[in-house]
Amino acid sequence: MTDTIPVSTRETRGSFPLPRNARYTRVAIWLHWAIAFFILYNLVLGFFNWDFGAEFTHKPQNRWIYGLILVSHMSAGITVLALTVLRIVWRLLHEPPAYPAHMKSWERHTAHFAHFLLYAAMLLMPLTGWAILSAHPPEGSAGAKARAEAMAKAGPPPGAAPGGAPAAAGAGGPPPMGPGAKGPPAPKIWWIIPMPQIMPLANIGKEPGGVEPLETLHDEIAEWHGVGAWLTVLVLVLHIAGALKHQIIDREPQFARMGIGRFPEEKE
Ligand code: HEM
Repeated sequence: MTDTIPVSTRETRGSFPLPRNARYTRVAIWLHWAIAFFILYNLVLGFFNWDFGAEFTHKPQNRWIYGLILVSHMSAGITVLALTVLRIVWRLLHEPPAYPAHMKSWERHTAHFAHFLLYAAMLLMPLTGWAILSAHPPEGSAGAKARAEAMAKAGPPPGAAPGGAPAAAGAGGPPPMGPGAKGPPAPKIWWIIPMPQIMPLANIGKEPGGVEPLETLHDEIAEWHGVGAWLTVLVLVLHIAGALKHQIIDREPQFARMGIGRFPEEKE
């Protein structure tokens, strides 16, 4: 086995072995695929619940589906956040495998830039999602009371069932949602751990005067979260296209680096 990465030429491209350490560590591989799974899960469920499937999920009789998706969406997102923190710690402690020596400078820079954007998405998507759920007056505050009264006065949201269909406990429904609202209790992560509010944010609506500014902020953060989701799709496409280019066009064992398949030298 070689310790250095051989230089590829037109003749040897696709046929040279990479060193065994060209593969990421087992933990890094496991974290990569778990994070990838939960991000895709959240993109699909998020766009379904609040975009192309919203007409269906926002029907009063489908509140339970909306609630189920919201809780699993939130839980998957918080799981991404926790796994990303672990991944960053692991990355700081373990040098990743080197790129093949022949990889062009622009390819390295693009890959690094895409990885930086992916880390940003893996942190900012869960954090903005958490901020959306936190942007409600804290439970028991004067702001929460004022908000509940205003909502009762305004009546049920357009399209709601007469008398207001009660939401399933812990599940929630469109709107109202979140602590402080005259609605279901705060949702729990994977139906087990109560979701804490980001208090400096929630406290903006502690007093009645802060309720409206907090609602405006809530809608703005939700918009950033939606734009962020599309940017995440874009970066993922770039990342996957890069991996496919190296695997298929350059005929380098890119997938083997991330645990899919073997390096040529490992084949009998
Ligand atoms: C990997 C992390 C995440 C991804 C990829 C993601 C993705 C998405 C997507 C695609 C949407 C639909 C956007 C739209 O079309 O309007 C959405 C909406 C939403 N997400 Fe996330 N999300 C993530 C994390 C979270 C977390 C951790 C929470 C809560 C703790 C959360 C709460 C929400 C809420 C409340 C909405 C609805 C916003 C609205 O009212 O328009 N998300 N998310």
